[in-house]
Amino acid sequence: MTEERSGALTSTSPAADEWWRNAVIYQVYPRSFADGDGDGTGDLAGVRRHLPYLRDLGVDAVWFTPWYLSPLADGGYDVQDYRTIDPAFGTLEEAEALIAEARDLGIRTIVDVVPNHVSAEHEWFRAALAAGPGSPERERFWFRDGKGPGGDEMPTRWESSFQGTTWTRTTDPDGTPGQWYLHLFTPEQPDLNWSSPDVRREHEDVLRFWFDRGAAGIRIDSAALPVKDPALPEVPEGFGPGEHPHLDRDELHDVYRGWRAVADSYAEPRVLVGEIWLPDVQRFAMYLRPDEMHTAFNFDLMTRPWDAKELRAAISATLAAHAPVGAPATWVLSNHDITRPVTRYGREDSSFDFAAKRFGTPTDLALGERRARAAALLTAALPGSLYVYQGDELGLPEVEDLPRDAIQDPMHFRSGGVDPGRDGCRVPLPWTVGGDSHGFSPDGAAPPWLPQPEGWGRWSAEAEAADPASMLSLYRAALALRRSEPGLRSADLSWVELPGASEDVIAFSRGDVVSVTNLGAGPLPLPDDADLLLASAELDDGALPSDASAWYRTTT
Ligand code: NOJ
Repeated sequence: MTEERSGALTSTSPAADEWWRNAVIYQVYPRSFADGDGDGTGDLAGVRRHLPYLRDLGVDAVWFTPWYLSPLADGGYDVQDYRTIDPAFGTLEEAEALIAEARDLGIRTIVDVVPNHVSAEHEWFRAALAAGPGSPERERFWFRDGKGPGGDEMPTRWESSFQGTTWTRTTDPDGTPGQWYLHLFTPEQPDLNWSSPDVRREHEDVLRFWFDRGAAGIRIDSAALPVKDPALPEVPEGFGPGEHPHLDRDELHDVYRGWRAVADSYAEPRVLVGEIWLPDVQRFAMYLRPDEMHTAFNFDLMTRPWDAKELRAAISATLAAHAPVGAPATWVLSNHDITRPVTRYGREDSSFDFAAKRFGTPTDLALGERRARAAALLTAALPGSLYVYQGDELGLPEVEDLPRDAIQDPMHFRSGGVDPGRDGCRVPLPWTVGGDSHGFSPDGAAPPWLPQPEGWGRWSAEAEAADPASMLSLYRAALALRRSEPGLRSADLSWVELPGASEDVIAFSRGDVVSVTNLGAGPLPLPDDADLLLASAELDDGALPSDASAWYRTTT
């Protein structure tokens, strides 16, 4: 990118057209970012107030998790109406103003689109329930008669991504049990039928609706799930590529080619970012072919433990998978579904696995913080785009002791209370050291929708902005260097072998900038000619301590 930080973005520069290749994208979870109207829930007014903070952090774009009208059965991923902002968050006019104001500060907006399902309160689903079996209204979803006597058995034994079953039985107007409908997530999120032309048309219209309002792109939720095998077979044992009945179906590519055509029809082409969880990197890369998505989240690195061999393998595999399709990699340390890095990296097992989440897993937060700082520099130095989940730039830990009756996440309830769920990374942000809610809401307002723990102000933006050693200061410095150092904007990466370094060191160069991360137990002396740009921990007599990263320029 060549545009200046201040002032409007230019759409004429060819480099600006491909801004997404090297962008820093900040994820806003609107409920928990900042509350402008004092009801205890974050909103668009709160985001607008803090846009200068995002500019100063140095981000290129903001991705908003769903802000649409929603009963919030799954934190907004149960969309009732894409063309209405949920009143808890504000109005459509405010969203338009926010997009424009952000743009004036050089920040683009990415909105979330959820093609796999809608809310059970969506007018289509209500119409489908009312219209009854065999109706065109039911064709937009997966309604089926049950199996067995009286249709009492579910049409398939597919498992929900949120544990449990994937079918719920309806009740006919006369009170008798009716058909079943499919939901890969909660019963409040009925799955759409992508064989229906209505479904396809509607989503392309939704894309246009937001692109016309200035959105620079969309994040595509659960992007490998929407198409189903219409025969609805059971999941075969040891299924091969494209053989799963509801994951990574070949027909999906056609859907995203249609979306790409919509995105490309704008003078400044819009960007598609997929949420794709697939272990097969070749299949993953197929979604990034030049006429499909621009980028997709890379969760490989995020799920790996703090181990040099593992992280190096994730980086190599990611770069190798992206190269043939010409798409940039993305680097993601967390999001609104994942345990915060500071907490995760302080654990004995620092990998991430949804199925392994339990209450009371011990962590060493000081160690986790050191590693999260090192991980921030490691990922910010890699070629491609970088995602920062709100609060990670403050080094917030996961809140693991939320009162049980405060938890709202369906993942918690559907696990029978075994899985703590995802609310621990969604606790409202601290903006100020003091104040009723540490500046999240105006003083005297309703309490935050999730309680903030004791001492939350320690991690506030106010406290950290004043501390040169804080996580916020580290992020600001790193993102500024990412912008100013030509090496960090290039597409290339070369692995570097530092003299005396063990295999616990990850080192690579980008142009004349070297990034080195020391995951070993002892300090690592940096080369004598290293011109230090930034380090995640203080050097000790020219040596990089354990669990730390440094960036330096080579001078010879
Ligand atoms: C992925 C989203 O990130 C998550 O928060 C949501 O629960 C599921 N998709 C279902 O929409």
